[in-house]
Amino acid sequence: MMRSGVSLRVMILAALTVPIIVQSPETFTLMVPNGPILTWLNSTVSLTCELSPLFNAEPLEVRWYRAKDFDSTALLYKDHKIQEASVDPHYRGRVSLTGELERGNVSLTLERVTLEDRGEYVCYVSSEQWYDKAIVLLTVNVTGSEPVLSEARGGQVHQMVTTT
Ligand SMILES: *[C@@H]1O[C@H](CO)[C@@H](O)[C@H](O)[C@H]1NC(C)=O
Ligand SMILES: *[C@@H]1O[C@H](CO)[C@@H](O)[C@H](O)[C@H]1NC(C)=O
Ligand SMILES: *[C@@H]1O[C@H](CO)[C@@H](O)[C@H](O)[C@H]1NC(C)=O
Repeated sequence: MMRSGVSLRVMILAALTVPIIVQSPETFTLMVPNGPILTWLNSTVSLTCELSPLFNAEPLEVRWYRAKDFDSTALLYKDHKIQEASVDPHYRGRVSLTGELERGNVSLTLERVTLEDRGEYVCYVSSEQWYDKAIVLLTVNVTGSEPVLSEARGGQVHQMVTTT
């Protein structure tokens, strides 16, 4: 008889041992969340974006920019480093790639979120022979009386206003 605990463990093990391709494949796609990413004002958030298949993104170009404005680059990684000079001053000093690039994680981490940060971002990744892009929507919740929050009362204390 097969016990579910055993098969679950086998599945987890299989998921953990998915091989990471070292060489860039000829083509790839990007995986992003289906729905919007929700966050609060002044928090740190990750806009997730991953290569499929998973492979080392270090030799690639990774560009995050506002969907409405190609010139507003939130982050540009190229020639194996973040190109600070190309970043929109609005994002300077607040963005990083904290996921593991070598494992195909090109997620953008954004600190001290402002209301102006909300909206659509394009995750764009290109290799020498291929590129793909995908859109991630960031929603910023404005919370009311942050300091008087009590854990005991859970999420009900927040007076949320959703802005997109
Ligand atoms: C933001 O507000 C919406 C609607 O009030 C709520 O469903 C969502 O959980 C909130 N998100 C966060 C991160 O608090
Ligand atoms: C934003 O967060 C930082 C550190 O988490 C804090 O020092 C600062 O006071 C906060 N700013 C606002 C406007 O809440
Ligand atoms: C990719 O990196 C982001 C930012 O550090 C992280 O939130 C996310 O969990 C990572 N994804 C995976 C599958 O490890």
